[in-house]
Amino acid sequence: MFNCFLLNNESIIFVIMKSEEDFIETDLKEVEGASTWESPSNIALVKYWGKYGTQYPQNPSLSFTLSKCITKTSISFVPKEIKNRDFSFDFKFEGNNSPAFHPKIQTFLERIDCYVPFVRQHNLKIESVNSFPHSSGIASSASAMSALALGIMSIEKKINPTISDAYFFLKASFLARLGSGSAARSLKGPIVSWGKTDVIEGSSDLYGTALDSKIHPIFEEYQDTILLIDKGQKKVSSSVGHNLMNNHPYAATRFDQAYINFKKLITILSQGDITEFISLVESEALTLHALMMASQPYFILMQPNTLKVLNRVREYRQDNNSSLCFTLDAGANVHLLYPKSEKDEVLKFIKEELACYCQNGQFIEDQIGN
Ligand code: PMV
Repeated sequence: MFNCFLLNNESIIFVIMKSEEDFIETDLKEVEGASTWESPSNIALVKYWGKYGTQYPQNPSLSFTLSKCITKTSISFVPKEIKNRDFSFDFKFEGNNSPAFHPKIQTFLERIDCYVPFVRQHNLKIESVNSFPHSSGIASSASAMSALALGIMSIEKKINPTISDAYFFLKASFLARLGSGSAARSLKGPIVSWGKTDVIEGSSDLYGTALDSKIHPIFEEYQDTILLIDKGQKKVSSSVGHNLMNNHPYAATRFDQAYINFKKLITILSQGDITEFISLVESEALTLHALMMASQPYFILMQPNTLKVLNRVREYRQDNNSSLCFTLDAGANVHLLYPKSEKDEVLKFIKEELACYCQNGQFIEDQIGN
């Protein structure tokens, strides 16, 4: 059993926060101010695929928080002049007015409304930039929704300055989850779980929990190089994808497997068992894609170049006695995971033999972060 709290006041709040009602702010004071937050993306090792209710996961998941793939979001807020029940916001993405993003933000604000009712009383000017290329096919919802949730929490902090840092980040994760499930894991680092499980004390379906157990030093500076195989729009939205798990023939088996893999991975991470890490992480990635291929309707999200990379990675690992392995999101891009000690050789391999499979030869060098 891994214990994730320390004996201080902040952690006592952590233990008490268990239900949705604990996150309702009732103070409707009008305030004025601004905040800027940077929040990272994350890469799941045990995947979240399938949800129920209001963005609750069907199984626990666990991710490495990244350090360079980030969204930076500034929010300035003033009391609304016309007092009505509508949300009032402007949104700029990378300096341009971006009405295309409005429906997503509107849906997010509606979902979080009962926990942060003060938002309706303010006019918000929201501006976001990503550190990674736009339309790179990288799932930006985790960094985007977590950065936005932090900005909303800054308004709450202005209204109610007594809230603790622990509550601030816990509620930010709770709110981010309502925008995009995986975003719940982007509020802390370096390794974060989301979803109730008996191996992580204090874990919850409502928010992410940073792993506070001992992690083997090999994972502390783990590298993630993201090969941009296909920078196009996602073929299937996350919501559609998650819904495919309802009535999926393998759903029950998959959710059981994810619980088992989650437990195994916690042990692997503490013991530094790289062989088992590679086997579990690659199997999780391929299972995610296999689930999509076995759905009705089905989706094939890998591209021919994805398969070429996966095969080449396996050969490279065998020929060089390397720890290089892959994982995948719900798309064609490949995340290459490896210890920092192999960085020089693996980057040489990527440049010489894998960049040719990437669109415009592009890849992003990232690593585990906080
Ligand atoms: O957060 P969502 O709803 O976009 O779902 C993310 C799902 C995966 O990225 C495929 C897996 C995960 O756990 O991050």
